[in-house]
Amino acid sequence: MEIRVKVNKKMIIREISPDMMLIDFLRENGYTSVKRGCETSNCGLCTVHLNGKPVLSCSTPALRADGQQVTTLEGMQKDATQIGAYIADEGAEQCGYCSPGFIMNIIAMKNEWIAEEKTVASEDDILTYLAGNLCRCTGYMGHIRALRKYFAANNIEITGGK
Ligand code: FES
Ligand code: FES
Repeated sequence: MEIRVKVNKKMIIREISPDMMLIDFLRENGYTSVKRGCETSNCGLCTVHLNGKPVLSCSTPALRADGQQVTTLEGMQKDATQIGAYIADEGAEQCGYCSPGFIMNIIAMKNEWIAEEKTVASEDDILTYLAGNLCRCTGYMGHIRALRKYFAANNIEITGGK
């Protein structure tokens, strides 16, 4: 069957099998920022945005994206570079394998909060939002420090924690 998906604003029209997952559709079309981890909806590594909302591409059928808009890290280079720099500055990037999925959810969180005109959020809000993103190398404290600075730069104060 044929699907038509706008990926990072570019229309892709392809024949797929009905059981193809979005992660495979994206990677086969060159979007290799989408990483494969657990493939059981547990690590967050394969996160992309479907119509602006984060989804796990390992458990989203490619068919669900037919006629929709998908954004990957390749389409968010400005935000990704900025967040990556904050994470690296705080020493929260060790092997870096978890970073693409983290960054996709951080961007989604920021966009949601800006749309809600939120100016204050708590450390718990961040931890709740990112609960599905696993990092096997760090204790998340560097990520939190980085996100305090990133959100401050976007006029959102993070309360609670240290
Ligand atoms: S690879 Fe999709 S959640 Fe782990
Ligand atoms: S830095 Fe290695 S998995 Fe997160």
